[in-house]
Amino acid sequence: MAPDLSEGAAWMKGKVIPISEATLGVTDWALTHSDVAYDVVPVVQGAFFRRDAYLDRFMASMAATRMDVGLTRGDIARALHDMVAASGLRDAYCAMVAARGTPLIPGSRDPRDCGNHFYAWAVPYIHVITPDRVEAGASVWVAQHSRRIPADSVNPRAKNYHWGDFTQGLFEAKDNGFETVVLLDHAGNLTEGPGFNIFLVEGNTVFTPDTGVLEGISRRTALEICAEMGLRTRVEPVPLSRLDTADEVFLTSSGGGILPVTKVGERIYGNGTPGPVAMAARKTYWQWVTQPAYRTEIAYPG
Ligand SMILES: Cc1ncc(COP(=O)(O)O)c(C=O)c1O
Repeated sequence: MAPDLSEGAAWMKGKVIPISEATLGVTDWALTHSDVAYDVVPVVQGAFFRRDAYLDRFMASMAATRMDVGLTRGDIARALHDMVAASGLRDAYCAMVAARGTPLIPGSRDPRDCGNHFYAWAVPYIHVITPDRVEAGASVWVAQHSRRIPADSVNPRAKNYHWGDFTQGLFEAKDNGFETVVLLDHAGNLTEGPGFNIFLVEGNTVFTPDTGVLEGISRRTALEICAEMGLRTRVEPVPLSRLDTADEVFLTSSGGGILPVTKVGERIYGNGTPGPVAMAARKTYWQWVTQPAYRTEIAYPG
C-alpha cells in the first residue's frame, strides 16, 4: 500500500517519502553552519502560484552561495511537482533546499570540499499570521534588542537559514503579546520580519524597504497590485519614524499573501481595524492566485 503523505512529503535522493522519514546527517553544514540556500513556493488550490519566479530566485540564491547540487532547473521543477502530486496536498508550503553537505575529505574546513545536495519538502499551507488574527487586527513588535543581520554579512537576497536575529525578535514579540516582529537595520530603517516583507501606506503612496531585505515574490505581487489600484509605489529606505505618519501597514508573504496589521509597537492604525488599501489588495491577491497565467497546475494521480 502507498504510504500516507497527507501530513507532508519530502523528496530526497530522487525518491518521494513521508516527511517523518526525511532526515539529515548531523555533520551536514546545513545543520552545523545554517549553510543552505532555500525557497518556498506556495501551492494554492492545486497549482503552484508564480512558480517560475520562485525557481528563478532559488537558482539565483544557489549561484550567490556557490551551491552546486547537480540538478537542472527542470529537474528541480519536476521534483517539486512529483512530490506535491504524490502528497495529494492542494494547498501547501513547498520548500526546496540546497544544503552544503558534509566535506568529502573528512575534517576539511574548505567549503569547496562539501558535497552539496538538494532536497524538498511539502506540508499543508502555513500562514505567517492566521486569517482569523488578520481579520481581527494583527500586531507587530519592533525588535528592541535584535537588529537585522547586516546585508554585507549575510546577503538577505539569497534566501537563507540565518534566523538567529528573527528568533530573538520573536521571543521579544511573543513575550510582549504581539503576533510577530519586524527588525530594524543598524541605521534605524525598517527591514523585514520572519517570513515577510513590510509595506506602509501614506495617502495614495505605498512604501517598502529597498535594501537589507529578501525581494519577496509576494512583495512583487503586492507592488503590481498596488500599481494596478492606481497607487504610487516607492521602494526606498523606510525610517522607523515613517510608522508615525503612515495610514496603514501591511505585510507580504507566501504564507498568506497580503496581511494587514493594525498595531505596530504602541501605534494603532485604523482604530484597530484592517485598512481599506490592504484589505482591497489582499482580496486581489487571492483573485490572482486563481488566474491561469500565474498557475502551474499539478497533475495529481487518480
Ligand atoms: C526573511 C524573509 N523576508 C521576506 C519573505 C517574503 O518572501 P515571499 O513573499 O517570497 O514569501 C520571506 C519568506 O519566507 C522571508 O523569509
